[in-house]
Amino acid sequence: MRNDRVPSLVSFTDRFGDIARFSFVFGDIVIVASPELVHDVLVTHAGSFQKSPILRSALFPLAGEGLFTSEGELWKRQRRLMAPLFRQQGIAAFGADMTGCAERAVGTWRDGGVVDMARETTRITMAVAGKTLFDTDTFDDADELGEALTTALEWAGVESASASLIAQARASIGLELLADRLPDALAGAARRAANGLIKPIMWPTRRNRELKQAIALLDERVERMISERRSSATGRRDLLSLLLSAQDDDGQKMNDRQVRDEVLTLFVAGHETTASSLAWALMLLAEHPATYADVRAEVDALGRVPTAEDLPRLELCSRVFKESLRIYSPVFMFGRVAVEAVSIGPYEAPKGTVVLVSPLALHRRRETWPDPERFDPGRFTPEQEAKRHKSAFIPFSAGPRTCIGNHFALMEGPLVLATLLYHADVELAPGARVEPEAYATLRPKGLMMRVKLRAPAS
Ligand code: HEM
Repeated sequence: MRNDRVPSLVSFTDRFGDIARFSFVFGDIVIVASPELVHDVLVTHAGSFQKSPILRSALFPLAGEGLFTSEGELWKRQRRLMAPLFRQQGIAAFGADMTGCAERAVGTWRDGGVVDMARETTRITMAVAGKTLFDTDTFDDADELGEALTTALEWAGVESASASLIAQARASIGLELLADRLPDALAGAARRAANGLIKPIMWPTRRNRELKQAIALLDERVERMISERRSSATGRRDLLSLLLSAQDDDGQKMNDRQVRDEVLTLFVAGHETTASSLAWALMLLAEHPATYADVRAEVDALGRVPTAEDLPRLELCSRVFKESLRIYSPVFMFGRVAVEAVSIGPYEAPKGTVVLVSPLALHRRRETWPDPERFDPGRFTPEQEAKRHKSAFIPFSAGPRTCIGNHFALMEGPLVLATLLYHADVELAPGARVEPEAYATLRPKGLMMRVKLRAPAS
C-alpha cells in the first residue's frame, strides 16, 4: 500500500472485496469500496464521522480552518454562506475566464512542438483559479503567489504521508478516546490537547522554513487584496469579493482570517484536481482515436471557442471528462474517523475507527463497472447514470461534505477540453511513457504530447 498505492487500489475489490481491515504500525485502518458501504459512511451516517485528522493537519498551515478542513458549527456556517456562490447559475459567469486561460496556454504552443501536458493543464487551471478567485491576470507558475501556493501544496502532499504526522493524528484520536474514560475535569483537557494536535509540529528543517516563507508571502498578498476590496467598491465579481460580501441570515459576515482561509482553501482544492483530470482526459483521447474523432466532430460543429451556454452541446466532452474522472480519480483516497460507534453495512465500527474511502478502488469495481479498465464515455449517458447506485461514482465524494466546486469543475473540464481541441490536435509524443503518480492527487507523470495547431489562439 505504501509503495504501490495505485496498483493496490485499482485491484482492491478483486483482492479484498468490498471492505477490508489493515493493520499498520500506528493502528488499524478500514477501507471500504462498494457503493452501499461508501454510502453508509458518507451519506447515511455522515454525522458519525469527521474528516481524517491527517489531511486536516497537513493542510492546516495553508488552509487553516477553511471549508475543507473545518468541522462542526464552523463548517456548517461556512458551507451555508458559500454554497450559493457555487450554484450552477452563479458560476456560468466564469466560463469566459476558463476558455480565456485555455487560449492563453495554446498561444504559447508551437506547431509540431512537444509539451508536458500535465504541466500545461496545471498552468491553465492555476490561471483560472487566479482569475476567478482574485481577478489576477498574470497568474502562471512564474508568479510568486503561484509559486508559494505550489510550495505549500507540495509540503502538504509529502507531509500527509509522513510518519510523524500520522503518529500525531493517531495521538489526537487516542486522546479523544481517552477523554471518554476520564472524569469531566480531565476529559476537557484531553479534548483540548487532541484538538491542538491538528496543528502540525514544525521542526526547524529546510522544508519547514520554505513553507513558512511561502505562507508569509501568501498571507501578505491575500491580506492586501482583502483590504483593497474592503476599502473601496472595486466593482469586481471575483470569488474573493463574493466571499467578503456573503452574509448569514443574522447579517453576520466572515472576518478577514476566515476569508483568507477560504480563499486559499478554494485555490488548493480546486486547481490541481481539475488539472489532473484534464491531463488524463487528453491522454485517454489520444489513446482512443475513434472517440477522439467524435470529440473533434463535436468541437468542429460548434465552429468557435465555446461559451458556458454551449455546454449542453458539448455532451461528449462532458462524458469524456467524467469517464476520465472515473478511471483516474484525482482524489484517489480520502479519510474519515468515527466519532462514535457506527455501523457500516453489517459491520460495527467502534469510535476512533479510521475509514478510508477510495474513489479509485470503487470506480474499478467490476460488479459496478463491467470491464472497468476500458475507456467508455458511453457509461455517462443520462440513461446509464440513472441506472447506477447514487454512490457508485464519487470523484467529488458524496453527502454533506461533497465537493462544493463540483459544478465548477464539471464546467471547467469540458470547456477547457473543447477550447484546447478547437485550437490544436494532440497526440502522445513518440517514446512517451506515462505513469500515474499519487501524491496530493493522482497525476500523469511523463505525459509528453505533440501539438498540431489548427485555429490561431486569439
Ligand atoms: C475535478 C476536480 C475536483 C475533484 C475531483 C474534487 C474532489 C473533491 C473531493 C473528493 C472532496 C471531498 C474530500 C473529503 O471529503 O475528504 C472535495 C471537497 C472540496 N472541494 Fe473539490 N474537487 C474538484 C474541484 C474543486 C473545485 C474547482 C473547487 C473550488 C473552486 C473545489 C473545492 C472543494 C472544497 C471547498 C471542498 C470541501 C467541501 C466541504 O468539506 O464542505 N473542488 N473535492
